[in-house]
Amino acid sequence: MRIFSGIKPSGDLHLGNYIGALSQWIALQDAHECIYCVVDLHALTVAIDPSELRRRTLDAAAWYLALGLDPKKSTLFVQSHVSAHAELGWILNTIAKISELKAMHQFKEKSKSNPDNINMGLFDYPVLMASDILLYDTEGVPVGEDQKQHVELVRELARRFNGRFGETFTVPKSMLMKHGARVMALDNPAKKMEKTGSVDGYIALSDTPDLVKKKIKRAVTDSGREILFDAKKKPALANLLTIYHLLSGQAISDIEKAYAQGGYKEFKDGLARVLIEFLAPVQERYGQYRGDENNLRALLADGASRAKKHAEKKMIMIKRRIGLYE
Ligand code: AMP
Ligand code: TRP
Repeated sequence: MRIFSGIKPSGDLHLGNYIGALSQWIALQDAHECIYCVVDLHALTVAIDPSELRRRTLDAAAWYLALGLDPKKSTLFVQSHVSAHAELGWILNTIAKISELKAMHQFKEKSKSNPDNINMGLFDYPVLMASDILLYDTEGVPVGEDQKQHVELVRELARRFNGRFGETFTVPKSMLMKHGARVMALDNPAKKMEKTGSVDGYIALSDTPDLVKKKIKRAVTDSGREILFDAKKKPALANLLTIYHLLSGQAISDIEKAYAQGGYKEFKDGLARVLIEFLAPVQERYGQYRGDENNLRALLADGASRAKKHAEKKMIMIKRRIGLYE
């Protein structure tokens, strides 16, 4: 299968990004043709300082690599290096409807939380995402649950275009984790973990062991003291158990058994240990990749030239279909 996904470099990568999206990216590389992107044009929809955007673009690429993205198996590149993304974005704008973009949850939430910067890019965000995906004849899009609605819209745009101009785009589908498609905030199990939330709500991939311990200690829990998975009655604990399970590879029932006597304190100590053990080698590799900027830039340039070949060929076909004069 052809796989495409991206993350915008607008803030610290966190555990939700890893569990919902990046862990899938890494796992898919062996059996599929994967294309992974740092979507810097999407990051422009939130006010971001130019030097910060430049730095965070390289940070994001270094984290992908540190987590196990293998540039020999997958294509890794920066969205703005392949101008076809923006070009196709314009074309797809002419078939996307204002009413469907208005219905997007992410747009509604971001406009509410950021009323002073409801820009056209924020509104148009899913159309650019559609062009990212459709340019590469993508079949599978590994993302977290919050992106499912966007991928539904991408499917609709692909079908509409194909219906009007003839078979051009593959209709992709989203790929979600069975558990962990929506990791919740540590300080509020009713909200998803996100980089714009409060610091206590998320574990950044860059968090030190002390910070991890502190955040896990502060994480809200439910009433009662038994360690049992019950998503309805004990949503906070269910979230922590899911994180423990996915990072350690241990079955939830085994984790419940291991802490049957201990209660929350021991469970949280154990979870902090699991997190710290997971993060330590990742942070070390991150330091190596991020410390060698020449190598990082060369990898991204190579990825961009591979992506460009595919995208440019596809653009020729798209332009013919819609009648742009050659
Ligand atoms: P974002 O941080 O919003 O740019 O998201 C990048 C990727 O991580 C997307 O595929 C999201 O769906 C995924 N993601 C973000 N937050 C979470 C979360 N709390 N749980 C699961 N996946 C997430
Ligand atoms: N919209 C995604 C997010 O907010 C990021 C993204 C942009 C993306 N283009 C993409 C994800 C293409 C998957 C495929 O997280």
